[in-house]
Amino acid sequence: MRVTVVGTGHVGLVTCASLAALGHEVVGTDADGEKIAQLQRGLSPFFEPGLDELVREGVASGRLNFTSEMAEAVPGAEVIFISVGTPPKVDGEANLIAVESVAREVARHATVEGVLVEKSTVPAGTGARLRRAMRHESGAHLLEVASNPEFLSEGTAVRDAMEPQRILVGADSERAFQAMRRLYAPLVERGTPLIETDVETAELAKYVCNAFLALKVSFINAVARVCERTGADVVDVADVMGADPRIGRSFLNAGLGFGGSCFPKDVRAFQRLVGRLGYEFPLLDEVVRVNEESLEATLEKVREALWNVEGKRVAVLGLSYKPGTDDVRFSPAMVLVQRLLSEGATVVAYDPHALSNAKAEVPEIEVATDPYDAAEGAHCLVICTEWDEFHRLDVERIARAMAHPLIVDGRNVLDPAVVGAAGLSYFPTGRPMVVR
Ligand code: UGA
Repeated sequence: MRVTVVGTGHVGLVTCASLAALGHEVVGTDADGEKIAQLQRGLSPFFEPGLDELVREGVASGRLNFTSEMAEAVPGAEVIFISVGTPPKVDGEANLIAVESVAREVARHATVEGVLVEKSTVPAGTGARLRRAMRHESGAHLLEVASNPEFLSEGTAVRDAMEPQRILVGADSERAFQAMRRLYAPLVERGTPLIETDVETAELAKYVCNAFLALKVSFINAVARVCERTGADVVDVADVMGADPRIGRSFLNAGLGFGGSCFPKDVRAFQRLVGRLGYEFPLLDEVVRVNEESLEATLEKVREALWNVEGKRVAVLGLSYKPGTDDVRFSPAMVLVQRLLSEGATVVAYDPHALSNAKAEVPEIEVATDPYDAAEGAHCLVICTEWDEFHRLDVERIARAMAHPLIVDGRNVLDPAVVGAAGLSYFPTGRPMVVR
């Protein structure tokens, strides 16, 4: 099929590259001309495992093309995805200006019967608004509207797109469903379930999935606070919970809270949406409150360890909001760093991929070449992101490098017995601490 993807951010670009890999002819378009020039050379503008190869292969096969001109990208397209940003407004509601203006422009340039598909996460009711927004444009009569929310996670986005657990399509017409069934036929033939709903249900289901996963994270983080007060071990508790398939072990890792460009934004937007609909859903407020408390609890351990934060040197391992990505947007690690800096500490950080993005956001961060370099002369070391390599840290070497051998583990990466044996004091999350 001829497919156009408007917006080549994380979601848009993975969508482009994976659909080209499934055999479709895909044109990606973006207002950022520099990014497009880079993509035309087959280079992905951000780090995402496997994406570079997929983009390169797509461009080399001729099935994946990029242009900054909507007038080139849209004509002839049977499926047009909108995957532009929906950043939060001050009040938390999703800002849909870009979505609206893209829809209008697409409708102006449409030349064949096609489906305009919401890929960006948008509040329930957006589909109906898009139809209204487009109605005065020349090609509007050619376009059906559908919702096809993405369930990609950064760090595993390529696998999530090529081997999804489910595909969700919301539409109100058989023509739209048929087009989407043809688009995803290669995946459905391999056994991926395709769930069909109306547009509003698909839009809502996307928010609900993210809000529920965020709820799981906040639940276990609240349990971690209880464990810290009783001496129980939250990792064992999560394992016990996870052994019950009705609960599941995933998203029960306690730590300094959830971040990134999806959960915080989507939970807030969902709160706004239900509020506007006149429903009270205080559980969502609690998810946010516990998340903030989780960061605070980690900070408090650093304060407790350092006594006075001012003038101390703090090593931070991990700055991205989770492993497998260089993304530092709404990263709890970055909030922690900023708080420590504002309290007068010097922060020296190491991250395998996110250092340059972090430095661009907070220039005061001192950059280290590896964890041991970061630990040199530090009064406290905080683990903020559970990168694989941190599981294999030589804690004895860390202990020798530090001014005070003391680790706050905001992601429960280390084995308490090993850290204790190396002579360090250790403050994990929701697990018994080791004090030297
Ligand atoms: C999330 C969803 O998992 C995807 O299904 C969805 O498509 C995506 O948002 C989106 O809406 O675009 P993502 O934000 O990439 O994906 O990352 P997650 O793996 O979900 O992690 C989110 C945050 O929760 C991270 O900060 C992570 O560290 C934290 N988390 C996750 C925990 O603190 N504990 C856990 O057990 C799991």
